[in-house]
Amino acid sequence: IVAALSLKPLAGRSVLITAGPTFEAIDPVRGLTNRSSGKMGFALARAAREAGATVTLVAGPVHLDTPRGVARVDVQSAQQMQDAVLARAAAHELFIATAAVADWRPLQLAEHKIKKNGKKQPPALELTENADILAAVAALPRPPFCVGFAAESENLAAHAREKLVRKKLPLVVGNLGPATFGRDDNALLLVDADGEQSLPADGSQADKLTLARALVAEIARRLAV
Ligand code: CTP
Ligand code: CA
Repeated sequence: IVAALSLKPLAGRSVLITAGPTFEAIDPVRGLTNRSSGKMGFALARAAREAGATVTLVAGPVHLDTPRGVARVDVQSAQQMQDAVLARAAAHELFIATAAVADWRPLQLAEHKIKKNGKKQPPALELTENADILAAVAALPRPPFCVGFAAESENLAAHAREKLVRKKLPLVVGNLGPATFGRDDNALLLVDADGEQSLPADGSQADKLTLARALVAEIARRLAV
């Protein structure tokens, strides 16, 4: 029994994962987005499923195949991602936010394509802030175990810890970008109340599926206590 449990450390657990970028429309043909590939979130969905969990993946616009056995909900904007997540979060024991949610969206959505014709100045784009999906889930009355991601270009540990505290999370996973965006190899830094831990442990790099499996094992260990 012990061996079976350790082989499927998330057996019987339900996991909700966000992945990919979001797309914030400016008009019917244009929008704001970012370079997130979604690969880490999709690899985590696969690894969590392999570990025995029931997995729901809320995905922004990406070109990736759905991992076998994973339920996928496709969204475009941050607001759609938030609606999809908040409708489901309370029913899950674990929430992993890998999505690169756009921090801002255009204040106005133009009904028709914005035309150049005759205007001397380019149009000004006024932005407004999107809600923080992860912080909203972590603030639920009985929140799932919430894992945040922090893609940073410098001061990884400090920025990841700031997010851990600000969003009131039990675990934040940091990685250095944008060098890692879209790449297969990466290294992670797990930041929690106890300290910091590198994955791979020797500070090398590994492909995202290997990292995802190692991260799932670490999360399962924390869920079990
Ligand atoms: N996140 C989210 N909703 C947002 C912004 C971020 O759910 N509107 C989640 C991301 O999925 C990630 C974590 O919060 O798990 C950290 O995202 P990040 O962009 O690094 O943090 P921000 O709080 O947006 O801070 P900044 O971009 O200024 O570093
Ligand atoms: Ca952000």
